[in-house]
Amino acid sequence: MANIKFYSGEEIPLEMHKVRIVQKLFLPTIDERKAHMNAAGNNTFLLQNKDVYLDMLTDSGVNAMSDNQQAAMLRADDSYAGSETFTRLEEKLREIFGMNYFLPTHQGRAAENILATAYVREGDVVPMNFHFTTTKAHITRMGGRVEELVIQEGLNPNSTHPFKGNFDIPRLRKLIEEVGAERIPFLRIETGTNLIGGQPLSLENMKEVCAVCKEFGIRTVMDASLLQDNLYFIKTREEACKNMTIREITAELAKNFDIIYFSARKLGFARGGGICIRKKEECLRMKEFVPLFEGFLTYGGMSVREMEAITVGLDETMDEDIISQGPLFIEYMCNELQKAGVPVITPAGGLGCHINAMEFLKHLPQQEYPAGSLAAACYITGGIRGMERGTLSEQRNEDGSERFSEMELLRLAMPRRVFTLSQVKYVVDRLVWLYENRHLVGGLKFVEEPKVLRFFFGRLEPVSDWQDKLVAKFKADFGDSL
Ligand code: F0G
Repeated sequence: MANIKFYSGEEIPLEMHKVRIVQKLFLPTIDERKAHMNAAGNNTFLLQNKDVYLDMLTDSGVNAMSDNQQAAMLRADDSYAGSETFTRLEEKLREIFGMNYFLPTHQGRAAENILATAYVREGDVVPMNFHFTTTKAHITRMGGRVEELVIQEGLNPNSTHPFKGNFDIPRLRKLIEEVGAERIPFLRIETGTNLIGGQPLSLENMKEVCAVCKEFGIRTVMDASLLQDNLYFIKTREEACKNMTIREITAELAKNFDIIYFSARKLGFARGGGICIRKKEECLRMKEFVPLFEGFLTYGGMSVREMEAITVGLDETMDEDIISQGPLFIEYMCNELQKAGVPVITPAGGLGCHINAMEFLKHLPQQEYPAGSLAAACYITGGIRGMERGTLSEQRNEDGSERFSEMELLRLAMPRRVFTLSQVKYVVDRLVWLYENRHLVGGLKFVEEPKVLRFFFGRLEPVSDWQDKLVAKFKADFGDSL
């Protein structure tokens, strides 16, 4: 897929697929949307999907499958042990990543659970470019600590660095010197860095990081959940890789790592997950946990249909036409928003479009959760469900004080092959309206705050009657239109 130049001069990402199964959507009225948002405690995780027009909460497990995936699901070989389906998946992973062993898990965090249980001990340190919520939770559960070593540009919302997910290598060397290689059970590289806006790492940077680890005998682990977008960015942004195929880039990348794990809810347009391992002894260290936590070694909690879908989906991930759809739609959306002055994270990354809520709602203090408020306002304005990625997604400090996140983002994920361009244009239009009326948006406060993973279940209320004012202004501008 590529941007196509229209006669009008406009450049538009042109879909290289057609829709053959559809799901009816509903757009509730603005009064209904406000009521639904309040019933959900102003937390987009608690909305009912039937009340959502565009679900941009995540790209996890909600990507559209292809005809070939659906066809493969029909030939699935249903057996507890030794299923042909598992062998097909194992062989596909070996072909793509060149690793000898594969342990299946029911999703990505289950792979993290096994890795942390097998390797992390009290007082250990796990360096990574940036944490992901579930990863950090599993490492700290085992008494370990996460050290984030992303380059400075990674935390600058306006930087135009093409690889903002890159590791800061001098800081990595310093950390190894300080804590000692023996306290580092593994280093984790998260391709397509989730929490800082789906920002990629370059092939060159990953090779260098792995070389440093080899020097000190440190195990290297790749979280490949968001590898799909990262591959596209390497191909299009890294000069040395311009003439390589996606398959060649993947092989060149994978050969540096000892372990590659992934959530197949993202990688492979399906559901499930697993761990690919180079060495037998490493496989043996983790293997026993699979039947304990997941299921037998030839399914690990996945259905055979899911496994067939992953096998075909992984092949599709090697097709540049297919994997460019997400990044091109996201880039289109970011560009259109930027033209209207809406602050977005640049350059456009993978996963989704990330709105800089700290900048969008400059008048709100972080104590009032600007990204959470923006998520609530975005649903009320357009029936669009995004995800808060800011202070609400953090856990309080031990002493009960707030841990303010470095960025306050509203993530509008772009499930692959799901939305049309007119739906994307609708999102842009409603966000531009909201931006022009941003002074009406107020903060939120907790009414129910769980101790762990509060962003999933917590309930909040507006600090004032700002939502009434927002609805009134919407009606004044749009009349009876939804
Ligand atoms: N690693 C990364 C980079 C992820 O983005 C996710 C999930 C996981 C691990 C965990 O995988 O959900 O299959 O257990 N990210 C989802 C999201 C939840 O919405 O971004 P999982």
